[in-house]
Amino acid sequence: MGSGIAEVCARAGCDVTVVEADSARAEAAYQRIVGSTAKAVARGKMTTDEQGSTLAQVTVSDDLESLSPSQLVIEAVSEVIALKLTIFERLDHLVEDPDAILASNTSSIPIARLGAATTRPENVVGIHFFNPAPVMKLVEVIPAITTSEDTLKIVNDFVSVHLEKSVVLCRDQAGFVVNGLVVPFLMSAVRMLEAGVATREDIDTAVKTGLNHPMGPFELADFIGLDTIYEIGKVLYEEFRDPANAPPPLLARLVESGWTGRKSGRGFYSYL
Ligand code: CAA
Repeated sequence: MGSGIAEVCARAGCDVTVVEADSARAEAAYQRIVGSTAKAVARGKMTTDEQGSTLAQVTVSDDLESLSPSQLVIEAVSEVIALKLTIFERLDHLVEDPDAILASNTSSIPIARLGAATTRPENVVGIHFFNPAPVMKLVEVIPAITTSEDTLKIVNDFVSVHLEKSVVLCRDQAGFVVNGLVVPFLMSAVRMLEAGVATREDIDTAVKTGLNHPMGPFELADFIGLDTIYEIGKVLYEEFRDPANAPPPLLARLVESGWTGRKSGRGFYSYL
């Protein structure tokens, strides 16, 4: 999602530095922004001049140190708590401005845990975008108990006024609003498939045509990433101990097999 978030911020006129784990991934992130903005131009959502100015705002790097002068960092690494904690510890050391805001695009992990990995938890907040970020209007803003009123106000204004997204303020509990609802729904669909109630195609068709959702649960799960859903399910289960949140065996087996959805070419469906 990082490239989508970068595109949204660059389009709003921010100088954006995208940091990836290596130079090949950094270049791939840039190419995703080129492709996404080209699609926006083709659909009449952006002029070629706006595409040019958006791309001119984006720099890519494979060095976390290049974030040192930032005023706002939005972390969007995989949904693995140990990795996120390491990133927040490093950001705390390297981001120079003591008032800089350190935000996470986490889908489910409580923000207080990430704030506690820094010496400035008052500047740590959740800014949760939805995939694809340039298209989806919602952003959940999540203050931790330790987040200051100033941080919350700056982030709220930035997201709603500057990025023109609709903000929903969420309490700092696992899954926030949307994933607290959709992840148990997606896992219920997997359990329904395991129980042989209907085929994955028919479950998807039922949800698309019976509920008018743009994607059925298996299409959406593949789109989000099965590893992401699996990790969110584990975080929800750890927080609430509700069996409805526990990842079902079929989801676990697909993830263990590397079938993580569209990004790997295979999930509930094949994209090869
Ligand atoms: N900037 C602005 N607009 C863009 C754009 C860009 N870079 N790229 C595409 N668009 C516009 C297109 O112009 C198009 O607009 P119109 O319909 O007005 O023409 C619209 O976005 C859709 O684009 P596409 O035609 O390329 O795609 P589509 O019609 O096949 O829809 C989809 C694709 C938007 C993904 C749709 O299937 C959908 O809404 N699916 C559900 C997505 C969803 O639920 N996301 C949330 C997942 S949960 C999550 O993300 C949270 C988490 O933590 C896990």
